[in-house]
Amino acid sequence: MNQPESLVTLQASVHAPAHVKHIALLAWVREMASLTQPAAIHWCDGSEAEYNALCAELVNAGTFKRLNDAKRPNSYLAWSDPSDVARVEDRTYICSEHKDDAGLTNNWMAPAEMRATLTPLFTGSMRGRTMYVVPFSMGPLGSPIAHIGVELSDSPYVAVNMKIMTRMGKGALDVLGETGEFVPCVHTVGAPLVNGAKDVSWPCNKTKYIVHYPETREIWSYGSGYGGNALLGKKCFALRIASTMGKRDGWLAEHMLILGVTNPQGKKYHVAAAFPSACGKTNFAMLIPPKGFEGWSVTTIGDDIAWIKPGADGRLYAINPEAGYFGVAPGTNDQSNFNCMASLKGDAIFTNVALTDDGDVWWEGMTKEPPAHLIDWQGKDWTPAIAKETGAKAAHPNARFTVAATNNPALDAAWDDPKGVAIDAFIFGGRRSTTVPLVTEARNWEEGVYMAATMGSETTAAAAGQQGIVRRDPFAMLPFMGYNMSDYFAHWLALGEKLAKSGATLPKIYTVNWFRKDADGKFVWPGFGDNMRVMAWMLERIEGKQGGTEHALGTSPTYADINWNGSTFSEAQFQSVVSNDRDAWNAELKLHDELFAQLAHRLPAQLGATKATIEARLNR
Ligand code: GTP
Ligand code: SPV
Ligand code: MN
Repeated sequence: MNQPESLVTLQASVHAPAHVKHIALLAWVREMASLTQPAAIHWCDGSEAEYNALCAELVNAGTFKRLNDAKRPNSYLAWSDPSDVARVEDRTYICSEHKDDAGLTNNWMAPAEMRATLTPLFTGSMRGRTMYVVPFSMGPLGSPIAHIGVELSDSPYVAVNMKIMTRMGKGALDVLGETGEFVPCVHTVGAPLVNGAKDVSWPCNKTKYIVHYPETREIWSYGSGYGGNALLGKKCFALRIASTMGKRDGWLAEHMLILGVTNPQGKKYHVAAAFPSACGKTNFAMLIPPKGFEGWSVTTIGDDIAWIKPGADGRLYAINPEAGYFGVAPGTNDQSNFNCMASLKGDAIFTNVALTDDGDVWWEGMTKEPPAHLIDWQGKDWTPAIAKETGAKAAHPNARFTVAATNNPALDAAWDDPKGVAIDAFIFGGRRSTTVPLVTEARNWEEGVYMAATMGSETTAAAAGQQGIVRRDPFAMLPFMGYNMSDYFAHWLALGEKLAKSGATLPKIYTVNWFRKDADGKFVWPGFGDNMRVMAWMLERIEGKQGGTEHALGTSPTYADINWNGSTFSEAQFQSVVSNDRDAWNAELKLHDELFAQLAHRLPAQLGATKATIEARLNR
């Protein structure tokens, strides 16, 4: 046995830089290369030079257009294949040994069966392409809360997006050292280039599989190059795999933004909020307080994912495992989200937005008046007249930007702090045209868990499939749960119990709904910056300084309890967004029953008991 020689042989066989001495990593890369048969292997170092070179290659390949540097410096536009524009929930699998451990809200297949399905698909799937070895850290490099992953991908678009979205490259490899643990993630667009075939600008495959093996902590993704299907650090690792790690080790991986909010007295709070996909996390995380809230400030820690661990003091500490934002473009403008628009001034990647005649980007809602002419996200001429006639959208409704967190002018000073920030309140909120009031405070942790568990929301363009359908989306985690949903509810309940026993003050739990509509189908609540009015009420409640009225579902503010400085929102309008209609809520509780019937097998008894209490209060 000649150890050093075998290391050198391994390194050489996968073209690894000399500083990579992690035998298991090298062996895995070799194994995957022999399975997928790429033409070349590129180890990403995460440098600017590498990013620029890969972007230039993407321009040459026709995947990227470089935007006008005078308008949008160092920025690129990609148009995906029209069949590959969003997460594919019906192709997403949790492959635990026992079906019960994936639960009924997940697609499941036995690991052995899935491996037998995937092996032929991955065999030779990277032929003619380069395999990028993308080492990344979710969370600050070296933080005790962070975890390392390595994604092997045949998509340079994925490699450059991962550079923005994660701490990617040599730093992550250094943390890994020679024996560190990493989550192996294999990604292929499933479009091998054989017999001199010419590439297309957005390679992908009609067949798609987004597969998780929670017990062996592996991720395998086939056939898509888009978003959460392909940037495997995000939903696949930081939510689905991490949720199973959290279940085992006593922490939480959540689909939550994290923000800091400072009141005029200088007291700072931290809030974590779970809204389903395309329901306002990025906007809330970058909120600018409205007129009349001088002295308040909001800073961003994260906009999509929170890893939350109990600290020695019994409080819950949250970090943002990501390093960038992969956010929804449509609807974003200087009024709705000024900080976001400022973040996007340069150094950004745009996917599926429209191209202006002067080489910049545009999407629905960016400006009041659309440009007279655009090239839409499918490469076709677009004018307001064409749009009116055909309904053609300039940008796909799930068009997105990728940008580094450090571009955000409202970035919190502690966003990168390995310790995380202590959470004072959790907020849960869906997109509901009716029924659910603007804001409700749960009476206690159990009632909060109940409200989060039974949350409903209208489906959005973030996932393939029909839009605007109300579905239960517990904790905004339905598409992102790595294990049995009932066990997840139990995990939240147990965590609350444990923290309460330690004598800690638990975060208060709120539900919100920014999306009630009037008879004309218009949003009644102004939303965006005005959501600060609701958050201020919550923070004053935490201090015991603010009133409210108790009702069947919890406590909501009266008109007089909200600060209306600088607002013209009337009491009648307010009533229409806070009202609780008994019939509507009885119908809603039937939908909770349906969810609980589906999840009955391991459902914690507290949830049924809480429902009975709410139902009795509602109908008394
Ligand atoms: P994901 O990245 O998919 O997880 O979405 P997200 O939760 O971060 O949603 P985001 O903040 O990107 O908002 C999605 C859409 O909702 C955008 O078009 C926003 O303009 C719109 N939106 C956000 N906040 C509000 C609000 O308070 N009121 C209204 N009416 N729309 C909002
Ligand atoms: C979501 O759908 O919740 C997203 C976008 O944040 S993606 O990364 O594509 O899942
Ligand atoms: Mn999301």
